[in-house]
Amino acid sequence: MTFIASSPGKIILFGEHAVVYGRPAVAVPVTQVSAKVSVTAMPEAAAGTVRIQALDIDLQATLAELPANHPLKAAITRTAAALKVRQLPACTLRVKSTIPVAAGLGSGAAVTVAIARALSAFLGSPLDDTQVSALAFEVEKIHHGTPSGIDNTVITYARPVYFIKSQPIQQLPVGRAFTIVIGDTGIASPTVKAVGDVRTAWQSDQDHYQALFESIGALADSARQAIELGAVELLGPLMDANHGLLRKLGVSCPELDALVLAARKAGAWGAKLSGGGRGGNMIALVNKEQAQRVCTALQTAGARRTLVTEVKPWKD
Ligand code: MEV
Repeated sequence: MTFIASSPGKIILFGEHAVVYGRPAVAVPVTQVSAKVSVTAMPEAAAGTVRIQALDIDLQATLAELPANHPLKAAITRTAAALKVRQLPACTLRVKSTIPVAAGLGSGAAVTVAIARALSAFLGSPLDDTQVSALAFEVEKIHHGTPSGIDNTVITYARPVYFIKSQPIQQLPVGRAFTIVIGDTGIASPTVKAVGDVRTAWQSDQDHYQALFESIGALADSARQAIELGAVELLGPLMDANHGLLRKLGVSCPELDALVLAARKAGAWGAKLSGGGRGGNMIALVNKEQAQRVCTALQTAGARRTLVTEVKPWKD
């Protein structure tokens, strides 16, 4: 029997980086991309044998062959530990993901969440959302050093979230649907590096950076209200302002700025980088009918690929 779990990607609408320093942020899942994990028993193999196949990243190995801090190994061993399973039954774990790596779309957290769900179901005790998110947060620390926890949260719950570090999750009601275009610079940019550079800069001039974080947090608060009320037209200028502050933090780059500008010129209501920055993705708020036009403009300006996603009102 095979146990399967799948997790969406994510984008941060407002508040990246400042969220690491306790300010609020807003993130939404992106279901157009996903990480999928399947776990299948291998009755013929000796107990404890775990074969891992992640062909997207050219990985075929057994669990024993991976270094202890490998994120896939960490996800597997932490899931087993959470269920107090000392020796895993022999199995094959396959990972497939359409979420670009190191692009600010949460690929690492999505893979961990899918592993925790598929493997715990295979072991007969599916972990609940709180356990899955906590486990993914621990693994995120290996990828990112000092993550805020927003990626594992939005991906585990697969809902728009208003997030403050170390506080209980707040799912964010959406008053009216809105459309976001995502443009990929194609530049791989590990979050750990951008977060580390911001930390170094903050350490050298705390007052200046605290003020920037404060302003970003205030934008996230305004955005939260606008999203809840369905006042979508207010979000564009908030995104533009957030991008300006991210530039001041030093996490944009010429390629991101070019895509942000191209989106605005093509009629987007607002645009900003999303995630760690220095590459990866940007997002633009668009009228649904304009989405294709903005995608074309982004591709002309150098985007490797574009996605369109809609943030919709949701119900339990
Ligand atoms: C990464 O998706 C968002 C950052 O704010 C880092 C974090 O919150 O862990 C850059």
